[in-house]
Amino acid sequence: MLWSQQSLFGDPGWDLTHINDLAALEEKVKTCRRCGLRSGCRGVVFGEGNPRAKLVLCGEGPGEDEDRLGRPFVGRAGQLLDKILAACGFERFTHVYILNAVKCRPPGNRIPTEEERAACRPNLEAQLRILRPRIIVLLGATALQVLLDPRGRISRDRGRWVERDGVWYMPTYHPAALLRNPNLKREAWEDFKQVVAKYRELIDPGHVAPYC
Ligand code: URA
Repeated sequence: MLWSQQSLFGDPGWDLTHINDLAALEEKVKTCRRCGLRSGCRGVVFGEGNPRAKLVLCGEGPGEDEDRLGRPFVGRAGQLLDKILAACGFERFTHVYILNAVKCRPPGNRIPTEEERAACRPNLEAQLRILRPRIIVLLGATALQVLLDPRGRISRDRGRWVERDGVWYMPTYHPAALLRNPNLKREAWEDFKQVVAKYRELIDPGHVAPYC
């Protein structure tokens, strides 16, 4: 981060490495003011799900409904995500943990800037360090770029596993993209079928899914 950003948002001592508990991390992250987003939203949307889940879903950032309710993926895109999860035999408080690349709503739901992504990165990294997922589903380009490849493109990179340090990443379309363009649902379903197969391979061989 540039010195000018540090002096603007001033928190060079934002050290989360000593926090090893998700609830304690959430309390700390709720005080975050490392970028300008926090002053324009209602609050931090930390994430939710089963803290012991080994499957994590990462979105972009909270939208209006998420900001209002303080929970990730609770608007229209979230409802579609819940349906996809159900088709995979996953339930959001049992099998997965859902979080976002940035924790505060960008104004007008714009894409978070490089600076905002970088400012929130320690929060995301600390979450993942504590959760220790085996599989991470990257929902959309922002999650792909933040966690895997800064130059990543979802239409090119989706549907192919990338393994890094024992963690398996599956980039796929963001559910909001599926709402905008339902033709993409078929490819997204192929991606989620691969997620179920990997879940059976790495996490629970007996996992039951209604449609795969
Ligand atoms: N879109 C996201 O990327 N995350 C949410 O939590 C909601 C919508």
